[in-house]
Amino acid sequence: MSDTNKEMYLDDRIVTSYAGKTKLFEPEVTLFAAIKEEVAGQPIFDIGVGTGRTTPFLRELSQDYLGCDYSEKMTRYCQQLYPGVKFATVDARNMKEYRDGQFAFVIFSFNGIDSVPPEDRLAILKECHRVLRPGGLFAFSTHNIEKPVRSAFHLSNIEFTLHPLRMARALQIYFAGWAPHLRNRKRDVFTAEYNIRNDSGENFTLMHYYISKPNQVRQLQSFGFEDVRIVDRQGAWTEAATPDTTSSWIYYLARKRRA
Ligand SMILES: C[S@@+](CC[C@H](N)C(=O)[O-])C[C@H]1O[C@@H](n2cnc3c(N)ncnc32)[C@H](O)[C@@H]1O
Repeated sequence: MSDTNKEMYLDDRIVTSYAGKTKLFEPEVTLFAAIKEEVAGQPIFDIGVGTGRTTPFLRELSQDYLGCDYSEKMTRYCQQLYPGVKFATVDARNMKEYRDGQFAFVIFSFNGIDSVPPEDRLAILKECHRVLRPGGLFAFSTHNIEKPVRSAFHLSNIEFTLHPLRMARALQIYFAGWAPHLRNRKRDVFTAEYNIRNDSGENFTLMHYYISKPNQVRQLQSFGFEDVRIVDRQGAWTEAATPDTTSSWIYYLARKRRA
């Protein structure tokens, strides 16, 4: 898995597509309600901030807020949208700009961590752990390996409607996904620990990491996180052992172990 995802995140069309998303997802509503008292007024680090979807909600929790992204197109967009708020162009794989234990809450929302190759994901987890203070909280979402693979050719990718213009557009989008999928699906990887899949994200232009809940919990624990809590796509707290074949992605909340 190379950095082709990064090229996509530097594309103006992707920036525009993310800029259209302004609401919290259900699991984030659940998570933010759970952590709000603990992180109120504390330093918050919003990694892979994209076009700043989470920024106003996190700034409601604390004005001590910093957003970063490795795509300067994204950070430039955020800076224009929220003048006076701090944003930086930084790659989560190496966040040497930030001190050990600098933040009370670190978040990498909406599966941004799934964009990098598997070994780089481990580097990101290490960095997130490092910049958190002992006892600090880390939240992120990641794709769910239990959700069956769906190719671009699957008719369920079409958003059927009786409106003729919208239906024409839906068909255009459906067929536009075929070429990138034919190109990218050769790069799929299936291992016992994780999958790398070319999925419907940005119409089959991206490759994403998928992992099971038990393996994700183990991965977090191996980096020194504990008290791992899990929220499904519908926003309900769930357990690692509970099967879930419907959530395309799942949120995790973990605490950095106190020494
Ligand atoms: C799916 S978008 C989500 C954007 C935003 N967080 C949201 O929830 O709407 C993932 C974001 O993560 C960023 N990203 C991916 N890998 C990154 C890395 N290694 N370091 C920093 N940002 C990264 C991408 O540029 C992109 O803006």
